[in-house]
Amino acid sequence: MPATYHDLNDKSVLVTGGASGIGAAIVRSFCAQGAKVGFFDIDDSAARHLCDDIEKQHSVRPVFASLDLRNQSAIPDAIAKMADKIGTIDVLVNNAARDDRHSPAETGPDEWREKLDVNLSHQFFCARAVAPAMADRGCGSIINFSSVSFLMGLPDLVAYETAKAGIIGMTRALARDWGANGIRVNTVIPGCIITQRQLDLWITAEDEARIQQQQCVKRRLVGDDVAQMVLFLASDVSSACSSQSFIVDGGLV
Ligand SMILES: NC(=O)c1ccc[n+]([C@@H]2O[C@H](COP(=O)([O-])OP(=O)(O)OC[C@H]3O[C@@H](n4cnc5c(N)ncnc54)[C@H](O)[C@@H]3O)[C@@H](O)[C@H]2O)c1
Repeated sequence: MPATYHDLNDKSVLVTGGASGIGAAIVRSFCAQGAKVGFFDIDDSAARHLCDDIEKQHSVRPVFASLDLRNQSAIPDAIAKMADKIGTIDVLVNNAARDDRHSPAETGPDEWREKLDVNLSHQFFCARAVAPAMADRGCGSIINFSSVSFLMGLPDLVAYETAKAGIIGMTRALARDWGANGIRVNTVIPGCIITQRQLDLWITAEDEARIQQQQCVKRRLVGDDVAQMVLFLASDVSSACSSQSFIVDGGLV
């Protein structure tokens, strides 16, 4: 049974890449806690579908804004507009990413930059845009997303894994720089989380059976498993946790 964090009620929460996959589970979970939730994504149709579904289930509608997070100069304005709608951001969940496979040979300078843009840079620029208002109020929680792929050294993901390793360093630097202002910064490291995209593109039934054999926890891991960790890190219940990485992988690595 999911926990209820009473301090999340009415909190203003921004989730990036919230239209599908783990991000959608995070958006749903914060709505269920009574938070005021906004999310960015490039997939407008999935976003509208999610908003309709949540409105039916919880009688509240999250606020969706279409934004390509690779466009870093658009981020501060998009966050200011989102804050006008849901309130000054208390919690930022930097979830968006794109795990397209790529070999080193086909990753030239443009592809490298694009992959860092979609998997790393927006996490910094979103954090940078929400931090001043968090500092003014002396509190805030920023949750960045990494991946076990870089710990395992999975093939055909060199720029993605470089970005996901960098996020851990970025988290520790920002947690130090902003800690005195009451801002906590942590990283969540998901393992193999079965989303529709994973099933459509990468994970076969045989892969899933093998992964479950490798996990200590012998079941399919889903977006909600990660969302529960995000709720904990967003809540004041975790007020002593900052600069850390939290692995949600069922004991895979
Ligand atoms: N699913 C897993 O097994 C797994 C494992 C390790 C880490 N992760 C991490 O967890 C997070 C969520 O993963 P997921 O599997 O749900 O991913 P996903 O691909 O299913 O969803 C990512 C969301 O981000 C959005 N997005 C992609 N590019 C964008 C852009 N340029 N601008 C705005 N939005 C954009 C997509 O439209 C999508 O809604 C990611 O950071 C991912 O790296 C996932």
